[in-house]
Amino acid sequence: MSDQVFVSTHPLVRDKVTRLRNANTQPKEFRELVADLARLMFVEASADLRLSPKNVSTPLAESSGHVVAERIGLFPILRAGLGMADAILQLIPSAQVWHLGLFRDHVSLEPVEYYNKLPSELPLDLAVVLDPMLATGGSASVVVEILMKRRVPRIKFVGLIAAPEGVKKLREEFPSVPLYLAALDSHLNEKGYIVPGLGDAGDRQFAT
Ligand code: PRP
Ligand code: URA
Repeated sequence: MSDQVFVSTHPLVRDKVTRLRNANTQPKEFRELVADLARLMFVEASADLRLSPKNVSTPLAESSGHVVAERIGLFPILRAGLGMADAILQLIPSAQVWHLGLFRDHVSLEPVEYYNKLPSELPLDLAVVLDPMLATGGSASVVVEILMKRRVPRIKFVGLIAAPEGVKKLREEFPSVPLYLAALDSHLNEKGYIVPGLGDAGDRQFAT
């Protein structure tokens, strides 16, 4: 696997992915697992964030420290990316959140864009695209293309479960975009679902 594709082997991630996949996991627990996994994966994806020095006074003494120096944008793909963005915002409350609405046409599996209020310029150092599922890669590819056109200097994708087909597409189209994944599965079935996957991530989060 390329060094631009990080698949977590962390025991907490593996435990939570297993519970997420379970067809008996109900929406409340499913949402909590998505949130936990999003935070765990964002920790990996943000390990190279630039810092600037900052001194603070503790109750006892002066201490030298650091603050995150990068302007970060989170780009959840609706609907399923929403739970990931909320969770990551708890780690980095200063991040901007820009929603992008896409759904897959059930027959063609092509992404259809239905919501995009992005300005033509995005004053960001890093954009993080969030979607629990990377299946054909069509939806993520559209979003990365949108961000590339706005010349965001660094773009990363954070997902939970991916199919090899989606990974291949993103690697070929956008070799500079690293992928952070909680699991890499076997294949897509004839309806474009990830196998073994977890089913429909939007439906399972929002009980639809
Ligand atoms: C799901 C998922 C991704 C997309 C992945 O969304 O959340 O956005 O499919 O598939 P792809 O890699 O083949 O493009 P869906 O279209 O089901 O929309 P929803 O989140 O509104 O349910
Ligand atoms: N979107 C989902 O929610 N699940 C899949 O398996 C593929 C796309």
